[in-house]
Amino acid sequence: MKAKIGEIKESAIKEIKTSENLQNLNDIRVMYLGKKGKLTEILRSMGELSAEERPVIGSIVNEAREEIEKLINEKTEELKKKELDEKLKNEKIDVTIPGKKFKRGSKHPINRVIEEIEDLFVSMGYDVVTGPELETDEYCFERLNLPKGHPARDMQDSFYITNEYVLRTQTSAVQARTMMNNKEKTPIRIICAGKTYRREDDATHSHQFNQVEGLVIDKKENNVSLADLKGTLEVFVRKMLGKNSELRFRPSYFPFTEPSYEVDVTCFKCSGKGCNLCKSTGWIELLGAGIVHPNVLKMNGYDPDKFSGFAFGTGIDRLAMFKYGITDMRYLYTNDIRFLSQFDRKDEE
Ligand code: DAH
Repeated sequence: MKAKIGEIKESAIKEIKTSENLQNLNDIRVMYLGKKGKLTEILRSMGELSAEERPVIGSIVNEAREEIEKLINEKTEELKKKELDEKLKNEKIDVTIPGKKFKRGSKHPINRVIEEIEDLFVSMGYDVVTGPELETDEYCFERLNLPKGHPARDMQDSFYITNEYVLRTQTSAVQARTMMNNKEKTPIRIICAGKTYRREDDATHSHQFNQVEGLVIDKKENNVSLADLKGTLEVFVRKMLGKNSELRFRPSYFPFTEPSYEVDVTCFKCSGKGCNLCKSTGWIELLGAGIVHPNVLKMNGYDPDKFSGFAFGTGIDRLAMFKYGITDMRYLYTNDIRFLSQFDRKDEE
């Protein structure tokens, strides 16, 4: 029997040593020490032994049991540590690995120009206002001295939604809105940039485009004059198109201003010498402007004997095209990523 116990112990030790995982180690424990285990069986069969042999064999079995238990416990610790090491190895995070790159959009060139204009005018004390893109005929035309049937309406091919509603053809509509909304009829100094719509489509016209409108109204005694308008536009144009830009005021006609002007700027490409951009004239037509027509003041609740002011408006798309050298206006509206990503100037933001 001693020999048998020795054999059992040897084989248990061997199995424990070669065991590779905790599950297997547990199986070994059951196989040798469990209720029906090999050593337990020996203890059960001790009834067959003589009274002298029993304690001797009993203590040998117990020794073997203790040793096997000890080995199993040691092996358990070893395997647990191994498992943990492996887990740590597999789940290791290398914080130095570069992160996943995600694509970030960039500001649209139109928005860049709008923000630049707004910043400039805010710095001169203007308020930034907005108005609806779906306008009424009343605000888009009538309140700007353009009654129904007025020939100047023909200059703006309009998208009418109903007889009354139109996609605004000009941000000038916001002039009337601002005057009407100002119940106290206090002085006004606003800038409004936004989308406008006309039925036209070619390399320099799009059915949707953007304009910016400026309006200054002040008490008559403050004498808002053409000189103020010119000074303001000079600051504006020099900021947008270069310090050396000069302005030229050409008499023109707009129903909402009197006198009215078209304002040209010296060609920033050839500095006025004449090139293909300015069609050899040295000048580029840029803005419409003038002194607010007394009818417009009156129609929108301002007494022309007590108030006067100036207004101006220009296309933002053209400004963006000049500023960034864009050759076809439609690029601005086709959302081509190859075009837009060229304006990805993160350093500016
Ligand atoms: N609204 C005009 C246009 O779209 C531009 C314009 C001209 C705006 C004269 C003005 C102005 O405020 O005074 O052609």
